[in-house]
Amino acid sequence: MNLRLNRHAALATVLALASTSIGAYGAAAENISAQALKAKTDYCKTCHGLDGQGFRGSAPMPRLAGQQPEYLASQLQAFIDRRRTNPVMNNVSHVLDPEMVKALAAYFKDLNPKPLGGGAKSPSSDGKKIYEEGVPSANIPPCASCHGTDGKGADAFPRLAGQLPDYVQRKLANWDKERGQKKDQPDNSSIMQPIAHDLTEAQVKAVAAYVSQLN
Ligand code: HEC
Ligand code: HEC
Repeated sequence: MNLRLNRHAALATVLALASTSIGAYGAAAENISAQALKAKTDYCKTCHGLDGQGFRGSAPMPRLAGQQPEYLASQLQAFIDRRRTNPVMNNVSHVLDPEMVKALAAYFKDLNPKPLGGGAKSPSSDGKKIYEEGVPSANIPPCASCHGTDGKGADAFPRLAGQLPDYVQRKLANWDKERGQKKDQPDNSSIMQPIAHDLTEAQVKAVAAYVSQLN
């Protein structure tokens, strides 16, 4: 499979689906005071960790630090629209207006703590192979072709580097139940759906362990 073609094809889909026009992601929002932003980010950090590195509570709270602003904003919007379901984040996000979403996305991209680590241990040589080469026999493309060789993502393709492995495992296992829940509002979750679906449990564990160690 040609990596470039693959990413280009996916990008075309992403662009065609881009429905919101929140504007330049990653640029500071103009109408949000530093004080209002700090009050919000302090709140986010009670769950997502003081440096946005993630946290293990009753459920794994994902790392937000260094996340691609376009992806982070798109997920907040997905929680608001309930295209993505999670009772906690559906509650947290519904009060956020578009300017605040933009400001939050810009804020978290600049944090750069070390990966939290922990979680499942697995020989990461398997995970590395899946990440870089995919699983050709199951027609699974290399994760690197969309999420980047360094796992840092780009635009609508999320960063996976340093993400909590238990979070990654749960998201891949539950993709169909949590993402793309409004069939009349298709979104980028459909790009990842067949991949999440086709990975075996062992492959998910291995690749989750691998990306969690990327800096
Ligand atoms: C009470 C705890 C809590 C608070 C407060 C909270 N979150 Fe979350 N957040 C979660 C949990 C739990 C998840 C994982 C949801 C899932 O498993 O799908 C999550 C997921 C997310 C995601 C999806 C991440 C990804 O990689 O797809 C984003 C984005 C996010 N939160 C942003 C925020 C922002 C911004 C704030 C502050 C305005 C915030 N959260 C406040 C608990 C919280
Ligand atoms: C064709 C492009 C493409 C490939 C290949 C791909 N992904 Fe994705 N992935 C995406 C997109 C796009 C999203 C964001 C979906 C959304 O916005 O709902 C995503 C989201 C994810 C998420 C959710 C991240 C989060 O923070 O919740 C995980 C985990 C993930 N991918 C893991 C993988 C793994 C592991 C592989 C390789 C086995 C892989 N992806 C291959 C495009 C791809």
